[in-house]
Amino acid sequence: MAAGRNVMRAVKVFEFGGPEVLKLQADIPLPVPGENQVLIKVHACGINPVETYIRSGTYAKKPALPHTPGSDVAGVVEGVGEHVTTFKKGDRVFTLGTISGGYAEYTISSADTVFSLSDKLDFKQGAAIGIPYFTAYHALFQKGSAKAAETVLVHGASGGVGIAACQIARAYGLKVFGTAGTEEGIKLVLQNGAHEAFNHKKKDYLTQIKEAAGVHGIDVVIEMLANVNLAHDLQLLSSGGRVMIVGSRGPIEINPRDTMWKESSIRGISLFSASKDELRECAASILAGVEAGWLKPAVGPEYALEKVAEAHKDIIHSPGALGKMVLLMC
Ligand SMILES: NC(=O)c1ccc[n+]([C@@H]2O[C@H](COP(=O)([O-])OP(=O)(O)OC[C@H]3O[C@@H](n4cnc5c(N)ncnc54)[C@H](OP(=O)(O)O)[C@@H]3O)[C@@H](O)[C@H]2O)c1
Repeated sequence: MAAGRNVMRAVKVFEFGGPEVLKLQADIPLPVPGENQVLIKVHACGINPVETYIRSGTYAKKPALPHTPGSDVAGVVEGVGEHVTTFKKGDRVFTLGTISGGYAEYTISSADTVFSLSDKLDFKQGAAIGIPYFTAYHALFQKGSAKAAETVLVHGASGGVGIAACQIARAYGLKVFGTAGTEEGIKLVLQNGAHEAFNHKKKDYLTQIKEAAGVHGIDVVIEMLANVNLAHDLQLLSSGGRVMIVGSRGPIEINPRDTMWKESSIRGISLFSASKDELRECAASILAGVEAGWLKPAVGPEYALEKVAEAHKDIIHSPGALGKMVLLMC
């Protein structure tokens, strides 16, 4: 048992709905790690937009209720279940998935979704790695076939996945363009790997991107809001260019003819559909990036656990992303 404790604070969702259904409870029994599982004392948990879709009940996969959201935690190992040899009590770790939920003071994760957290990163940065960096790598290389010397446009670069995509693409030798909706966002994108950054709120920003890309065009677009941008993305592409749809919040009309002359592709991305081998490759590249020093998550707004409903409102409704939003447990 964790330092004599047998209950903890954790957020529970008892019914699907708006942010108000996130209920902070103070008397939740501490989870017990089973075979191949790790019990983690959570210091910080990244908040991802998908957790708001799941909470509202509109996501394709619905969890059993009551449900505790949160997959990307960083903290310290409190105990391990049978057969776990890779971690021990006291290790600093981050996760790509939890079993009992990350919006809590303690969580359990399957050992194969737990990774060592380098001393180079603090817990908030550790909580910003999981879904954003794995998604960015998966979209760029495993589905987008991006290569050094190509040009990538990270359309929506100031948030969790966008900053990750800029850092990774820069480290792998691509020419990196990013967009943000505020001047602070543009600065952050430029500090995190983009060679050039554009304001997607400005009327002429697509013309500016076209000019910067030259006659060749953009090889890969990493798209965070396809329902707004997909038709324009097709105009920006090079011959053989690819649009990777990472985020979309509704329908859009496109002209299929815009894909024909350039033989361009549009591909949807879902990290949840990545294979075990793909995830292993993502993890190896991400851990190598931390070791080399170029992978440094930008942490944005921070919220105490009791402010979780506010955080869920803000991640969807407050424009002007500035890195990864995190929940703090202590
Ligand atoms: N497919 C997957 O497996 C997967 C995995 C992770 C995330 N996602 C999805 O990807 C999207 C981004 O996730 P995130 O965690 O990075 O969210 P986030 O941190 O909230 O960032 C959202 C980003 O979208 C930008 N944006 C806003 N309006 C835009 C516009 N008109 N054109 C282009 N970009 C615009 C924001 O820029 P400003 O705020 O500066 O305007 C910000 O950079 C979400 O829809 C999320 O659900 C999908």
